Amino acid sequence: MKDVKNHFEEEAEEYDGLILKLIPGYQEMIDSLIRSIPFESSKPIKVLDLGCGTGNITSEVKKRYPQARVTCVDLAENMIEISQYKLARYDDIEYQVADLRDFQYGEDNYDLIISSLAMHHLRTDEEKIAIYQRIYNALTEGGVFLNADQVLTSSEHLEKVNHEQWKAFMLKTLPLDEVEEKWVPTAYNEDHPAPLVDHLDWLRDVGFKEVDVMWKYVKGAVFGGRK
Ligand SMILES: C[S@@+](CC[C@H](N)C(=O)[O-])C[C@H]1O[C@@H](n2cnc3c(N)ncnc32)[C@H](O)[C@@H]1O
Repeated sequence: MKDVKNHFEEEAEEYDGLILKLIPGYQEMIDSLIRSIPFESSKPIKVLDLGCGTGNITSEVKKRYPQARVTCVDLAENMIEISQYKLARYDDIEYQVADLRDFQYGEDNYDLIISSLAMHHLRTDEEKIAIYQRIYNALTEGGVFLNADQVLTSSEHLEKVNHEQWKAFMLKTLPLDEVEEKWVPTAYNEDHPAPLVDHLDWLRDVGFKEVDVMWKYVKGAVFGGRK
């Protein structure tokens, strides 16, 4: 996790421009996550954003839910600092520098828990499942968890197809040596995605209902469930 922390501490200032070049359909993915939130926009929902980065998802949540109170959690202080700067006009957002494995989630605490491109940095299936259980416990009855993340397919062939599609996407805006010598090895070292079908099983196993996939493109997916 040290590598992941250092990576995002260093990349924080360039992150917002860079992520659009690295993740096919990044904006569409966020739009899908936001569209999938089932609450009325006037509701003063309590929200937790896990691995908030520079605050992109929270920013969209606040546009649609002006009365939402959000807790933003991230491992990297520099990422949190940028979200504080970008979201400075809101006085109902709380920030915590924490590893989402150590964060105190509490019980019956949030109406909505969201996470985007963070959970695949957890190394093992056990860590991902343990976080899903804490997320479930931390939601109020009827509360919703939505995860936009990098996932695997269930076949070697589809993995190859997605990997080539991902590289072709990056090469539209980034030079070949940067893609091959930086971004592909970084993903290899720091990303530990699990198959989407496993995530769905894990969510059901910890108790979620209405588990579903709302969006899928190349390596990305938006999925979640309701307590
Ligand atoms: C690719 S960025 C995504 C940021 C933001 N959610 C977005 O979609 O733009 C991943 C973020 O997750 C954070 N992160 C990764 N592992 C984490 C962990 N174990 N605990 C807390 N934050 C973590 C990183 O510091 C980074 O800011």
